Parts: sequence; structure tokens; C-alpha cells
Amino acid sequence: MHARAIFIVLLLIALGAYQQFGAKSQNSINGFQFVDKMGNIRKPPNVRDTYQALGTYAVIDPKGNELHYTYASPGAAETYRQTGKFADGTVLVKEVFATDHAQLTTGDANWASGTKIWFVLIKDAKGRYPGNPLWGDGWGWALFKADAPDKQVATDYKKDCLGCHIPAKSTDWIYVQGYPVLKSK
Ligand code: HEC
Repeated sequence: MHARAIFIVLLLIALGAYQQFGAKSQNSINGFQFVDKMGNIRKPPNVRDTYQALGTYAVIDPKGNELHYTYASPGAAETYRQTGKFADGTVLVKEVFATDHAQLTTGDANWASGTKIWFVLIKDAKGRYPGNPLWGDGWGWALFKADAPDKQVATDYKKDCLGCHIPAKSTDWIYVQGYPVLKSK
């Protein structure tokens, strides 16, 4: 009788642990679900709802100010804080907005109006697609424009992306300084 009670308690503990683990792995970073066998990248859906906001760069430009919002797949920031690295399969999405502005009660305030483009990066620690010109240096690189949001339009990350990311090479090509959540909660 006693032994049976202990057994049941142990079983419940094991079940609880399993469920927690299950929930975590469901929430885990699995960017390769957006990649086909050839390495073609799709834009992940519902990013604003389901991803974590990392931070925003404001780019002041006489031709039109922009706000760059960067989102990461769930768990990415926590893992980064623990390991100092983006885990294999991490997805980063940068949504580039045009802005409106006006004198508000705070000052000359700018806010996001329409989306112009999305940049997508998927962390590939294993070099999965060696022959694909959109994969290399530890990431899959992709670009989607607002007029055809489902169509990936970058052709060669070395030409389309890498040059501009060289200043961030020492931080795995990512401009981490603009993302407070990578440093602390
Ligand atoms: C004109 C230079 C330029 C080009 C071209 C460029 N990037 Fe970036 N990218 C940046 C800069 C600078 C940042 C961070 C600051 C900002 O957004 O203003 C950034 C940020 C990002 C981010 C958010 C994470 C981070 O590093 O901060 C992603 C994702 C990204 N770029 C992907 C791409 C991809 C994919 C391409 C090619 C299809 C690309 N970029 C091409 C300059 C560039």
C-alpha cells in the first residue's frame, strides 16, 4: 500500500517533468521548419504575435526616417544570455518601417507606419546548405519586400547582406548592441 502510494507520487513527478519538457520543446527554436530541402527560406508567420521583440534601431534619413524592429524566435534571448550565442535554428526577423511624425506632447515623435521590407536570418551552426548562395557564415540570409511578402528576393548573401554586417562580425554578424534583452531581462 505504502509502496504503491510512493510509486504514484514518483509517477506524477515524472509526468510533470515530462510535460514541462514537452512544453519547452514545443516553444523551442525551430527555424528549419521555414526552410525546404534546397535551403529556400520562407518568412515565418505571425512574428509580431509569437516572437520576442529584441529592440529597435531608429535611422534618421532626410529621405524618410525608418524604424527597424528586430524580433527573435521564442527562447532565443534567454539562450543567448546563458551561452553568449544564438542557438542553432534561431530565427531573427528585422521589419523595416517607414515612419510618420508629428509634434506630440513628448516632442518631435516618429512612429512606425507601413512595412517596407523584412530581413530574415536563420542560425545554421552546421553548414547545412553548402551549395546555396543564401547560406554561409553561420546563417541563412533572406529578404522579403512589402509588395510581395511571400517572395524571397535575395540572391547571394555575400553580395546582398554580408558587406553591411562586417562591423558586427565579432558578434556573429548581429548588431547586438541595440538589443537590451540580450544583456539582461
Ligand atoms: C545597407 C547595409 C545593410 C544591408 C545591405 C543588409 N543589412 Fe542587415 N542590418 C544592417 C544594420 C546596420 C543592422 C542593424 C542596425 C539597423 O537596423 O539599422 C542590420 C540588422 C539586421 C538584422 C537584425 C539583427 C541585427 O543584426 O541587428 C537582420 C535580421 C538583418 N540585418 C538581416 C540582413 C539580411 C538577411 C540582409 C541581406 C538580404 C541584410 N541584413 C542586408 C545593415 C545592412
